[in-house]
Amino acid sequence: MDTHSLTIIDNRTNKSYNLPISQGTIRAMDLRQIKESADDFGLMTYDPAFMNTASCRSNITYLDGDKGILRYRGYPIEQLAENCTYLEVAYLLLNGELPTASQLKEWVDLVTVHTMVHENIKKFMDGFHYDAHPMGMLISAVAALSTFYPESRHIHDAKVRDLQIVRLLGKMPTLAALSYRHSLGLPYVYPDNSLGYTGNFMNMLWKMAEPKYEPNPVLARALDVLFILHADHEQNCSTNTMRAVGSSFADPYVTTAAAAAALSGPLHGGANEEVLRMLDEIGSVANIPSFIEKVKGGQCRLMGFGHRVYKNYDPRARIIKRIADEVFEVTGRNPKLDIAIELERIALSDEYFIKRRLYPNVDFYSGIIYQAMGFTPDMFTVLFAIPRTVGWLVQWQEMLKDPEQKIGRPRQLYVGAAKRDYLDVAKRG
Ligand code: ACO
Repeated sequence: MDTHSLTIIDNRTNKSYNLPISQGTIRAMDLRQIKESADDFGLMTYDPAFMNTASCRSNITYLDGDKGILRYRGYPIEQLAENCTYLEVAYLLLNGELPTASQLKEWVDLVTVHTMVHENIKKFMDGFHYDAHPMGMLISAVAALSTFYPESRHIHDAKVRDLQIVRLLGKMPTLAALSYRHSLGLPYVYPDNSLGYTGNFMNMLWKMAEPKYEPNPVLARALDVLFILHADHEQNCSTNTMRAVGSSFADPYVTTAAAAAALSGPLHGGANEEVLRMLDEIGSVANIPSFIEKVKGGQCRLMGFGHRVYKNYDPRARIIKRIADEVFEVTGRNPKLDIAIELERIALSDEYFIKRRLYPNVDFYSGIIYQAMGFTPDMFTVLFAIPRTVGWLVQWQEMLKDPEQKIGRPRQLYVGAAKRDYLDVAKRG
């Protein structure tokens, strides 16, 4: 007997089935042959929230949540964060290999010439309410790009795809900055293509009356590293949304908008904003024990803690903690760091968190850094969406090229009413 197989005995029929095991999985469709009778639909799996279902084969990002390992295209995240720029990592994710010096220069130039947006985008940004959430504005603006580039619907044309990918990478910081300036009532700033990716982003955010904005190099580098850490994270909620929406062959702009919408929720990318609100609510180190009791009593969650796949320290959180020191050298220390460090210390020694293997995730410290840099909390998820765009796009492209993929369409277990007949409104009790 093939030892790489699973034997299943169906006790309803006493029949036995042999299912091949490949890469530690069986194919859910192999279960369909297991039937109680000839007209039976066949066995399915029931897996709400995809707790134990692989939806694709991927060669982009490797994650071992038990060991706390994260690699892009085989390279450890620590090495990439130490040595690369964000655009270099974006190239790696998209092409599978790190660029040569000339490839990198060409790539950076290419993305840089796509930072401008059509003037009409400024007009509809103006239509948003003065206190609109920047994430809502960003999601809407990304979706609207679809109307500016109608050819983007030709998703099977590799050249068309490549152009939209570069456009999206170039324009995301611009759209993010437009939403930020709008929420502050400030005039929009055009991209300065003599600056790097994050330096130009800072220019579009913070330039005032000075003739040329000079980004602080330490803060620009810190932002670049944070962008590297957020670039991809395999099949998370927003990436799964990107693949699901993209599987209907929708264009990449509306598909990216859908992924960004998934990111905006407080259990996903929206958590970094919630961490800051939580630290504000706690107020001081002295209030931490009573807050922890509330968490343990189920009244609230310790935001920025816990992860569906990491059951160990999130390696990104470790790197972010280090960046915090460099940023605070420039900006001064954010007093919320003391509350965060003490929260982490208590949580990591408390039975409740140890038993559930809850560790700080990427969002626990990122918000504190962003706030020290001058961002308001409602911008934090926008800062996550910019770098994650490359992850969404590379996963979308992989899905489109995968011959095994089809339109995403899960099954359900119907538990509603059995057939019944319509009753005229006058006869309903
Ligand atoms: N604080 C307190 N308890 C928690 C937390 C938390 N942050 N996270 C999980 N738990 C507890 C749950 O109450 C549950 O306890 P129980 O077994 O007694 O019922 C147990 O740990 C397992 O939690 P689940 O909700 O089943 O875990 P799941 O994998 O579904 O959730 C999630 C993962 C959503 C990230 C969760 O840990 C959470 O809500 N964390 C806070 C929000 C957050 O930081 N999100 C960012 C994630 S990273 C990212 O998306 C970029």
